[in-house]
Amino acid sequence: MNLEATLSKLYDVYMYPARFPSKIFDLFFSKLGVRGVIFDPFAGSGSLALASYLKCYDSEVWDLNPVIHVIVDASVNVVRGYSVGEALRLLEDALRYGRGWLPSDAGYWWPEQVLDIISRVWGFFRDNMASFNDSKLAFEPYDERWSLYAVIALYASRRLSYTDDSVPKWFKSRYKVGKLTSLLSVNDVRELFWRYARLKAVRIARVQESLVKPNCKPNVEVKVVDVVTASEYPDGVAGALTSPPYVQAQEYIRSFSGELKLLGVPDSTISRLRSLEIPYRPPINLNVESPTYQELLEGLEPRCKKLLESYFTNTLQVLERTAENMMEKAILGVFAGEATVRGRPVPIIKVVREHLTKKLNLREVEGGIIEDRIRRRRLFKKRKNMNPNGIQVEHLTLLRKEPIKW
Ligand SMILES: C[S@@+](CC[C@H](N)C(=O)[O-])C[C@H]1O[C@@H](n2cnc3c(N)ncnc32)[C@H](O)[C@@H]1O
Repeated sequence: MNLEATLSKLYDVYMYPARFPSKIFDLFFSKLGVRGVIFDPFAGSGSLALASYLKCYDSEVWDLNPVIHVIVDASVNVVRGYSVGEALRLLEDALRYGRGWLPSDAGYWWPEQVLDIISRVWGFFRDNMASFNDSKLAFEPYDERWSLYAVIALYASRRLSYTDDSVPKWFKSRYKVGKLTSLLSVNDVRELFWRYARLKAVRIARVQESLVKPNCKPNVEVKVVDVVTASEYPDGVAGALTSPPYVQAQEYIRSFSGELKLLGVPDSTISRLRSLEIPYRPPINLNVESPTYQELLEGLEPRCKKLLESYFTNTLQVLERTAENMMEKAILGVFAGEATVRGRPVPIIKVVREHLTKKLNLREVEGGIIEDRIRRRRLFKKRKNMNPNGIQVEHLTLLRKEPIKW
């Protein structure tokens, strides 16, 4: 199976909005000019780490969303051949576990008769699988099967909650309340939980069976970090590929608030992470060297102007730091959807390309531009915000770091 097909199967381990389209990776790896680490500062679910693993490259992936740690660890372990059946059997122990634990707002998200199961499953997780270290923003595993257990348990817990199954955000929909009430009126709650847990486990096991294990064991480093203020960017980077948020098309931390609470991330940390998310934070002092950006701001109402200033100054600072730390001849790929603000298209990639090629010694790679019309991402459609029609098209640009001419 080729890289594109393998990656799109691995995406089944757990959903994440706006992942890289899997076809992007072949182009990226074919353009690498030097050997070294592969880096993504806005890694989301860490898709690039998985692609790098399959291509035998060491990688480092960062994101503000702690769920990255769970998805990357579980997916890499699927590739390594960890037993999905064993993770499922741990859930049997969990259902008998006596020391329960529930997030503070559990009564809002789960029907009364489901709470006992949720409490056992997540009490077991905290005591036996992993705990969240709040000062390090990292999960500390007690058992190597923690992340596979987590993805299966998260999936089943979500399906038995009032949150709508068709959008990633935690959102109590009338449709789901009705559906769950009628399901619970004719099914045993434990059987239902098992049905969903088994469904996820079987899907993951099928993915595992169809994979070809790479003949290598590259290093994968995952960091939960605010990338705007992070001080130590990785060295020895041969290639970076990243996809910043598409302006305000998605609130990632809010979308995963339910998962994060179940995983034991404190409410106060979730709120703090939300305030650090781009573009929901103040602009920083950075001169955007792009005529397209200047045109874009002209005549915009102050609220939208501030949003775009925040978006571009913060995002470009991250991209500049990434490029500055790359080796000579390394490549930087940036992928984003063309969002709109008050009906005006925001050509994110054009602004990024203009700014980076003007300010740094980066040059466009021949054949390194991709346009991808979106057919698959219903999550961005029909939104009641400044971007009501969703994202229609996504772009990739690839830039190479030129040696400095003295
Ligand atoms: C388009 S998504 C990346 C998806 C990723 N390419 C994938 O395949 O899963 C953009 C990511 O930027 C992250 N992000 C936003 N603000 C951030 C910040 N200040 N520091 C680190 N990550 C941030 C979001 O959490 C989100 O996961």
